[in-house]
Amino acid sequence: MSESPVLLLTGSTGPVGEAVAGLLAKRGDRLLLTGRNTDRLAELERMYGVPGQVEVFAADVTTAEGAETVAQEAERRFGRLDGLVHMIGSFQAGPSQFVDHERLLAVNFLSSVHATHAVLPRLANGGRLVYFGSPLAQEPMGFLGGYAAAKAALLAWMRSLSHEVKERGVHANAVVMTMADTPEARQQRPHADFAQAVTPDLVARVVAFLTSEASDGMYGALVPVMGRFGFSTALAGPPPGKGA
Ligand SMILES: NC(=O)c1ccc[n+]([C@@H]2O[C@H](COP(=O)([O-])OP(=O)(O)OC[C@H]3O[C@@H](n4cnc5c(N)ncnc54)[C@H](OP(=O)(O)O)[C@@H]3O)[C@@H](O)[C@H]2O)c1
Repeated sequence: MSESPVLLLTGSTGPVGEAVAGLLAKRGDRLLLTGRNTDRLAELERMYGVPGQVEVFAADVTTAEGAETVAQEAERRFGRLDGLVHMIGSFQAGPSQFVDHERLLAVNFLSSVHATHAVLPRLANGGRLVYFGSPLAQEPMGFLGGYAAAKAALLAWMRSLSHEVKERGVHANAVVMTMADTPEARQQRPHADFAQAVTPDLVARVVAFLTSEASDGMYGALVPVMGRFGFSTALAGPPPGKGA
């Protein structure tokens, strides 16, 4: 890509979105930042907004119509589209019967499908698709089944999609991250050891890599960005018959 790429950043109103938007804007990428939260979009616009370079647009990308609208808008404003960084996500923990599985699937998985279907036909010269998974997709701990299942669906679908689109020069990859170190997370989990957590800035650097030519050899990769996180589950425990 000789001209600076045009990327659609969906779910940019979260902490990861803010860090990714900041780093990619600094690199000179042209960005359309989307979300439903207009207050947060206005803040992002104040921080990074430059007309024709970094713009914001309010929409709900959990529907096919919303996804089509944002992709159209990116193309209308910047003249083309080179990729998607899809950061929309939703988390819920609790006993299975109290968890809203439909919402978790809609937000974490189906929104990714809708956004991708809207963006793909516009990637005339190849492009980059970046998604966000969780290690819980492979190690589903108790009380996190709905979230783990939704992220597992997303990652399995992304790996399949990567084969469908690679011959067109489209790179689909995912960041697999654990809990981010944010002021909200620190408030919600006062006993967690945040020395093990990953910061949004560190995640953003990997997104910068996955949206650059440095990752040209990667299709369908699950890239762990876990900081120094360590957790053990029954699956990661000692072999049967040994230990407690
Ligand atoms: N932060 C972490 O600790 C962590 C850990 C593992 C994986 N991840 C994943 O990494 C990605 C980015 O993380 P993040 O912490 O920045 O995400 P986030 O703040 O949890 O979510 C990003 C955005 O998703 C949108 N969203 C949330 N619920 C929605 C709903 N019901 N319908 C439509 N949109 C909704 C919100 O934007 P609007 O309200 O503006 O629409 C929100 O700003 C997410 O996919 C997340 O699941 C994060």
